[in-house]
Amino acid sequence: MIEENGTIRTLAVDIGGSGIKVIVLDAAGNPQTERSRVETPQPPKPDAVIDAIASLASGQGKFDRVSVGFPGVVRGGITETAVNLDPDWIGFNLAKALSEHLDKPVRVGNDADVQGLGAISGRGVELVITLGTGFGSALFLDGKLVPNLELGHHRFRKGETYEEQLGRAALEKFGEKKWNNRLEKALASLQHLFNYDYLYIGGGEAKKVAIGLPPNVKIVPNITGLLGGIALWKE
Ligand code: BGC
Repeated sequence: MIEENGTIRTLAVDIGGSGIKVIVLDAAGNPQTERSRVETPQPPKPDAVIDAIASLASGQGKFDRVSVGFPGVVRGGITETAVNLDPDWIGFNLAKALSEHLDKPVRVGNDADVQGLGAISGRGVELVITLGTGFGSALFLDGKLVPNLELGHHRFRKGETYEEQLGRAALEKFGEKKWNNRLEKALASLQHLFNYDYLYIGGGEAKKVAIGLPPNVKIVPNITGLLGGIALWKE
């Protein structure tokens, strides 16, 4: 289980609606390999996604255990929702199936939760949102996660959810200007709802944020969705 230099190597996996990414982290969570990525297979059914992860993993050298960020509700390694993947994920034991496939222990968390674990300071009320194919959310109090917060599918405005207004489909349909205007309204709404001390904005589209942000709101690089994977092994 332990590498020659004594470091446990974790394969961190980020399953997204458009891409699947992997990297290997050392015990302290520092990257040991170049990140690699493939397009999410279509249709994104469990077997196809597991094969894609296994093939990415084979190019990453040795690893001892696996952390996965999954774009849906996850409980005890089982994926309970997968709005942007495929209904076959509902009730699927991803931790078990991937562990059998790779012959390594696997832990799975919600992708926004994992992103948040890599981003937060550990003090106060910290909210994380991710802007990608979907709209992810994670909430922490003094570093402790409230798992599986699903803001994305809640009503935001004009009878639509945060994800319908701010997911990638809306960004592509309405363009960056309108999307940024909507984001500004969403941040005001979330500030009033959570009264957070800090808000972190991650995900593949966070680089398109073009509005002025208050000092307690930070953009986090998308690689955080992989780096946060180390935290799944911290208890
Ligand atoms: C899912 C969340 C996920 C988010 C970002 C949403 O559609 O319901 O669980 O975190 O997309 O991938």
